[in-house]
Amino acid sequence: MKRRKFIERSSLTGIGIVFSSTVINASPLQNFNQKQMNKFPITIATWNFPNASKRAGELLSQGANALDAVEQGVMVEEADIRNTTVGKGGAPDRDGNVTLDACIMSASGNAGAVVYLKHTSKAASVARKVMEETPHVMLAGEGADLFAIQQGFEKEELFTESSKADYQEWLKKKEYKPIINIENHDTIGMLCIDKNGDLAGACTSSGLSYKINGRVGDSPIIGSGLFLDNEIGGAVATGMGEAIMKSVGSFLIVELMRQGKSPQEACEEAINRIIKANPNTYKEFQAAFIAINKKGEIGSHCIQKGFSYVKYQADKNENILSSYNF
Ligand code: GLY
Repeated sequence: MKRRKFIERSSLTGIGIVFSSTVINASPLQNFNQKQMNKFPITIATWNFPNASKRAGELLSQGANALDAVEQGVMVEEADIRNTTVGKGGAPDRDGNVTLDACIMSASGNAGAVVYLKHTSKAASVARKVMEETPHVMLAGEGADLFAIQQGFEKEELFTESSKADYQEWLKKKEYKPIINIENHDTIGMLCIDKNGDLAGACTSSGLSYKINGRVGDSPIIGSGLFLDNEIGGAVATGMGEAIMKSVGSFLIVELMRQGKSPQEACEEAINRIIKANPNTYKEFQAAFIAINKKGEIGSHCIQKGFSYVKYQADKNENILSSYNF
């Protein structure tokens, strides 16, 4: 890092030409052999959302950077009204409000987030605007919606006829026990490594179905729903946001990878901590992580059987069942 800073400064002061080959060598790929580099680009995403991973993967293959790819990738699910836990068509809270949470993180370590967004389905894109166009990291509620409109996002109705019908059914029983692996839930978290070996990630969700009005989960929380360090790797989460937030799971995984654990070992440790912290309730909810390191090694672990993730690499989508505890 220090070395890279020195080199960047050197080129600004005019001696960069002398070091031009050094500048290239100083990228995060400098320690990689050709075999590792051939793994890139890679996209991984929570659950089986093949259209989203394909979109991101194809963009990466065409030379897009990881940030553009991850934003465009998750947007596929944000727009898909059949997905009731992300973007337009997401299930509402108990009072009938559809509210979206999202965050995004770039290779430079920059981050943006939105919570309780009500009028725009492109939550991850609004989060990117927060990151790039404001001095802040997170905007919430009315202010987030106003900001989105000011940034040119179209005002949309997020509550679809189908979600309204489901909500009317829910009102008859008002049961507040999420259906594991369905309502609890399909948040899309995506990590991309581009051809240059740079990482970006996004996490976007309508949150827990029939949550209390105002509830925000882990998805927009940097460190919980998503974290990455371009020198180490990244992690994203899905499942019960409350448990994930209390464990700061994605940050934990990246730090464990920094200490030498593989992505798989790090995901297992993060899930074990959630189980340990919730001894009486962990069987009643799902929590899952996926992670990737800078070598392109991938890991995934969850509490309950049934979570899978999708990997797009070398023009191919693969849905992979995660390891699990129970
Ligand atoms: N994992 C998303 C949420 O709990 O809202």
